[in-house]
Order: sequence, then C-alpha cells, then structure tokens
Amino acid sequence: MADLSVNFVGMHFSNPFMLASAPPTRTAEMIKRAFAAGWGGAVTKSIALDPARDLQPRLQPLRHRQRNIGMENVELSTQLTVEGWQREIAAVKTAYPNQPLWASIMDAPVEKNWQRLAEAVQEAGVDALELNVSCPHGMPSKGMGAFIGQDAKVTGDVVSWVKKVARVPIVVKLTPNVTDIAFVAQAARENGADALCTVNSVSGLIGVDLDTLTPLPSVGGVSTYGGYSGPGIKPIALRCVAQIAKAAGLPVSGLGGLSTWQDAVEFMAVGASTVQAGTAVMWNGYGIIEEMLRGLNSYLDGKGFADLKPVIGAALPKIVAFPEMPLAPRARASVDGTCNGCLLCATACADGGFQAITGVKGEKVTIDGTKCDGCGLCAMVCPPGSITMVPR
Ligand SMILES: Cc1cc2nc3c(=O)[nH]c(=O)nc-3n(C[C@H](O)[C@H](O)[C@H](O)COP(=O)(O)O)c2cc1C
Repeated sequence: MADLSVNFVGMHFSNPFMLASAPPTRTAEMIKRAFAAGWGGAVTKSIALDPARDLQPRLQPLRHRQRNIGMENVELSTQLTVEGWQREIAAVKTAYPNQPLWASIMDAPVEKNWQRLAEAVQEAGVDALELNVSCPHGMPSKGMGAFIGQDAKVTGDVVSWVKKVARVPIVVKLTPNVTDIAFVAQAARENGADALCTVNSVSGLIGVDLDTLTPLPSVGGVSTYGGYSGPGIKPIALRCVAQIAKAAGLPVSGLGGLSTWQDAVEFMAVGASTVQAGTAVMWNGYGIIEEMLRGLNSYLDGKGFADLKPVIGAALPKIVAFPEMPLAPRARASVDGTCNGCLLCATACADGGFQAITGVKGEKVTIDGTKCDGCGLCAMVCPPGSITMVPR
C-alpha cells in the first residue's frame, strides 16, 4: 500500500482529500462524520462577522441526459455566529485533534474585521486560515468575496492584515473570475500568504425556464448570477491551479469539479498537494472517500510509486506557452474494424472538419489521409470508439 500522506505547510494530512468550504462543512457534527468516513481534512463553511440569511431555493442543476453535470448556487456564508463556530471548531478538534481543520473566513476589506475573525477561529483551535476572497455572488455587493479577490491590491492588503495576527498558516482562496489569476496569486504571496487554494465557483447563469421565461434558480420570480460548480468547471479549475502553481511557487490546494480519484491525480499533477471536493459530496455523500482512497492507492501501486511525491507537479513542466507548441504535422485519424457505419464521424468531418471521411450507412467508413487535418473531431463523436489518432 502506498503512503497517501502529505505535508501541507507543516500540517500532516493522512490523505490529500479535504472537504471544501460548502454545505458538507456546515456544522461540527457533519465534519466529524466526514472525518469518521476517512476524509483527510476539512475547511469550514465561510465564517463572516454577520451570519447570513439565505435565499430559498438556492441550488439549480445543469442536466444532460438525466444526469447532473453542474450546479449553480446562490448560497451565502454560514448562518452561524462567530461564537457558534468557536464552539463547533472546538468540538471537531476535541474529537479529531490530528485531522487538519481550516477555518474559512470572509469579510469586507476592513482590517479590524479580518483580524477579529482570525483571532476568534485561532482561539478555537483551527490549523489554518482560508481567506475567502473569491465568493462570486451576494457577498461582492457587500465588499466581500470576489470584490476583494478581483483586485490584486485589495487582496494583498487583506492578506497583510491577517498576517499581523496569524499564528497558523494562511491559505488564500482565489477566484477564477479574473483576467489573470497569476497576478492575484503573486500579490497574495508577496503579502504573506503561506499557500493558495483555487477555484471558488465560476460566475454563471445556469438557465432559463422555457414555460415562464424566468432565469434560474427562480427565487420568487427573479434570479441573479450565481456560483457554478461541479464536473463542468474542472477544466477551468485545472488551468487555474496550474497557473498559480507556476506563478507563485506556493503549496496549492486544488478544487473545482473534483469527484473521483482520477480527478485528484490530475489536480495533483498540475501542482496541487491537497485537493478538495464540494459539489460531489453534496450529490453523493461523504462515502465517496472510500473509492477515492482505494483508487488512488491502487493507481500509485500500479505505477510503482511509494507515495504522492512523483505525482505532485509532474505535469507542470509540460504545460508550455502556445508559441512553444510543436507545429509539424504529427497526427491523423485511423478507423478500426469495430466501426458500425453510423456515419456520425462523416457528418462531423463534413460540416465541422475537412471532408476527409466517406462511407455508406452500416459499413466501415473510409478516411482519406491526404484530406485529414488531424484535428481529432471524428474520434470524439464516434460512439463505439473505433477511431483513434495515430502518428502521421
Ligand atoms: C452550495 C455551495 C456553497 C458554497 N459555499 C462556500 C463558502 O461558504 N465558502 C467558500 O469559500 N466556497 C463556497 N463554495 C464553493 C466551493 O467551496 C468550491 O470552491 C466550488 O464549489 C468548486 O468546487 P466543487 O466543484 O467541488 O463544488 C460553495 C459551493 C456550493 C456549491
């Protein structure tokens, strides 16, 4: 069995899987159940000086063929008071003293507010402070969340204020809803961040009800832009994790659409040393940790890796700027005998490609190598997977 433990800014994690700041970390009772199930660490639901009054309903799925593939929320910070959270944190730490518990804190850019929050959760015994400067909805209109994280200068100010009172590591949770996340990451590092975390949810509008033409989620007949999360945001999250890992050189906790051990390996390969999950736990429960641990273990064993070190950051040197990508022709499509002649590839190539595929319904297609431009579209739409891209 491989060693799944990681050291994250001096904190020992028995495994890299953390619960993200979200509904699954709403109370001590919930966090304790998650730790009992095997989660390596947790971040509390975001704590602000004023408890939130939430909208109802506040969650809306994006579905494809009856399956949830993403979700929008317009949920705010915790409904508990700071004093309430001091009790919850102490209860978790008493039951699980060795399991890292981070407090997510958020407020407007007012020095004494951030310091008050940081002092309060540290007194209660948290292992790190996660600064939420990234919530995309509701909070920005009060000067909180992404209002801060979308401005590198204000982000730096907040980090420097917390640094003055911090006795535990500071992890800054960044928003993907910026032009250049690397720039904000650098400001966080220069002002004292010990580690970074990304992504918070992606600003979105999940849909419109076709009967009433009301935007969703409909709260009394109106809606607003919310936070999009779940599997659909993983490519954005991987890009953000890679960018900040390269730019800031700090430890990164990666999240955004993570729901399997394979996702975790991908996040770690692009620079994350711990990973977090929110939506996947809301949809499937704390029990998903079992398969994540089992799968990660057998992956490492299969690769002959004794621990996670060979994975963390392994893909980063292979992410290059576009001009450094090799331009020479190198791939073409090839079809094997499992082709059922459905002609989806021929349609795609005709109308979205280079008119290289011809065929008769029910018979194996023919690919003209001289016309094929190696784009990969046909392989993507082929239901039985009969088309692969081969070296030219
Ligand atoms: C309903 C809901 C509530 C959330 N609340 C918080 C929060 O209080 N603080 C925070 O930093 N992020 C919050 N998030 C964002 C998640 O922590 C996470 O960054 C985001 O959902 C992407 O990860 P996921 O795809 O694994 O959910 C929330 C997400 C959801 C879905």
